[in-house]
Amino acid sequence: MLYNDHNTMKNLSMMLFALIFALYSAETQAQEITILTKDVQLSMSLGKDGKLYQSYFGTRFNDAYNPDAKSHEAYIAWGMSDLFEPALRVSHSDGNPALALVYVRHSSSKDTDGSTLTRIDLRDTLYPVDLTLFFASYYEENVIRAWSEIRHREKGELTLNSFASNMLHFDGGDYHLTQFHGDWAEEMQMQTSRLTSGIKIIDSKLGSRAQMYQTPVFMLSIDGTSNETSGRVLAGTLEWSGNFRFLFELDPHNSLRLISGINPFASEYRLPAGKSFRTPAFVFTYSDVGRGKASRNLHRWARRFGILDGTKPRMTLLNNWEATYFDFDEVKLKNLFTDAKKLGVDLFLLDDGWFANKYPRNDDHAGLGDWEPNSKKLPGGIGALVNDARSKDLKFGIWIEPEMVNPKSELYGKHPEWIMRLPGRAEHYFRNQMVLDLPNPQVQNFVFGTVDKIMSENPDVAFIKWDCNRMMTNTWSPYLKNKQSHVFIDYQMAFYDVLAQVRAKYPHLPMMLCSGGGGRVDYGALKYFTEFWPSDNTDGLERVYIQWGYSYFFPAVAMSAHVTSWGRQSIKFRTDVAMQGRLGFDIDLKHLNERELAFCSAAVANYKRLSEVIMQGDLYRLVSPYDENRAVLMYVDSARNRAVLFAYTLNSRYGEEFAKVRMQGLDPAATYTIREINVFGNDHRTNDVRASGDRLMKEGLSVSPQQPLTSRVYEISRD
Ligand code: DGJ
Repeated sequence: MLYNDHNTMKNLSMMLFALIFALYSAETQAQEITILTKDVQLSMSLGKDGKLYQSYFGTRFNDAYNPDAKSHEAYIAWGMSDLFEPALRVSHSDGNPALALVYVRHSSSKDTDGSTLTRIDLRDTLYPVDLTLFFASYYEENVIRAWSEIRHREKGELTLNSFASNMLHFDGGDYHLTQFHGDWAEEMQMQTSRLTSGIKIIDSKLGSRAQMYQTPVFMLSIDGTSNETSGRVLAGTLEWSGNFRFLFELDPHNSLRLISGINPFASEYRLPAGKSFRTPAFVFTYSDVGRGKASRNLHRWARRFGILDGTKPRMTLLNNWEATYFDFDEVKLKNLFTDAKKLGVDLFLLDDGWFANKYPRNDDHAGLGDWEPNSKKLPGGIGALVNDARSKDLKFGIWIEPEMVNPKSELYGKHPEWIMRLPGRAEHYFRNQMVLDLPNPQVQNFVFGTVDKIMSENPDVAFIKWDCNRMMTNTWSPYLKNKQSHVFIDYQMAFYDVLAQVRAKYPHLPMMLCSGGGGRVDYGALKYFTEFWPSDNTDGLERVYIQWGYSYFFPAVAMSAHVTSWGRQSIKFRTDVAMQGRLGFDIDLKHLNERELAFCSAAVANYKRLSEVIMQGDLYRLVSPYDENRAVLMYVDSARNRAVLFAYTLNSRYGEEFAKVRMQGLDPAATYTIREINVFGNDHRTNDVRASGDRLMKEGLSVSPQQPLTSRVYEISRD
């Protein structure tokens, strides 16, 4: 191969650069970099070769650094000597596909949110490419957020082929992965399988409604399976609402590498010199006493840091989606306001169908994009509704789906250049709609403007439900022109930019993250949202499973749960299930008899008394619906003074007797009174029980009713 002078000089200077690095690294090789929380430790050390190694991950210990610990290169780039899946793969501007990253420096400081931020700088030995690994550790919560940032000073663009947020290594014996897959109305079905040699991937390629089939969450049990109270388990999730990928590769030596980040599928990213590319954070926690603690770690972190206003109370509400669908007018809605008052809820939420005039939104074929109140249905506009609600001392909220357009809309005619579709090919619809080209700043203004217009015309609007009913297919962005491989990433970045704009102007407006059910539930978006809609499936029995699945990763304060007419269970069962989250109703009260209505409004009052325990307390999952014909769970406040226990019997076989349930999280030295609440009508209330926390946790109590599809709720108070 022939080199010209310029190349020879370039190569010489690169070699010098590499040599300086090697010397520098040799000097610093004895160092250990430790990322610590109260109970978890992630240690990295520098090898003689200048590379960064993960030397330990697991329960925290106090020993000094062990230079002989088995280690794996911490964040592996592709193209050199590694034989398995890389965390990072790039193509340099000259076509060279390799990176060899060595340690440069690291530092650690307190971040503004109280976390400790560790940054480790790495650099390629030949090309001017820099990579920084970031770790934010939340000491009390035992949670670590990890992300990476890449920059370069090459002449042309650097192409990022894959770019993980984080890579972790395990040397356990027997790995089991628990994943949460689903579909519309079947979200968060939990499946556990043993990892076998090779690669297992959980991912999404759906773009806007990215999580329709898979939520970006998982639990990895390291030494055999785990349960609620035993086993070594890592719980992980990604702060990203778009395409994600968790990749697990088990090698011939039984070492497992876990690579988490944006899904690189169809997403090569061309990075100009001087710009940096920052990945979303991989959020994870670790527990050596099972899944229960891992969930509580994540919940505590999420309430303080992951969810907007996660430590604040939430409003109960009446929603009209299932009560009316698109068939309503001002009079009907005002009657529903009266229903909301009868129930005693705080807010009325007006759902889909209130907008568009030329192509009225009377079903899901028309109107999306035309965010003017429909003058036939709502002659007084939103203002009349807000005023009427106010006069009834009720708050008012409203539904929008601002990222979408129906071909039957004025927007479609006015701004064809704002719509994503493949040139020269037939349009593809899902729920009769298309996705707007959010990377386009004009579209971002339009989406922000949709919220801003509602809010500035009606400053009393107190809640927004933000829906997103389709994924991206036949995707082509008119704005991105020859950078189509940026579309999935730029869409999400633009989504967050718009949300940041909304939050700059309306910092505390409660907003529900909804996506045709639970198609978008993640901590990337929840920074901007106060809650999420888990599923359109509100059948009480189904919800026991769906909410159980979400509860591994998301706290009750963020989980909207509505009582509807879906499901053949009693109103008591459905209400008891919905009390596990942010309680709401979506039901025409005409379908309830007097006793049922009285039950519901009493349940709302109970809920208001107990919601702080449910939303801010520690969750203990006591009996899993995946193990038995029932589910039992309890929430305990931080002082261990108050608790709420929910027991749902799903089915029962002839002669089946449910065992006593041992509680958790109580103070063993305290005495508690356990009282059944939410008793329907004149039904028999179980007798109060007084017992020590010790006894309740060791002997347990019979809490489950015998009949299928019945439930009990207990209020537990320290004497
Ligand atoms: C899907 C949501 O999940 C529902 O709750 C409802 O808002 C409909 N969209 C309205 O079109």
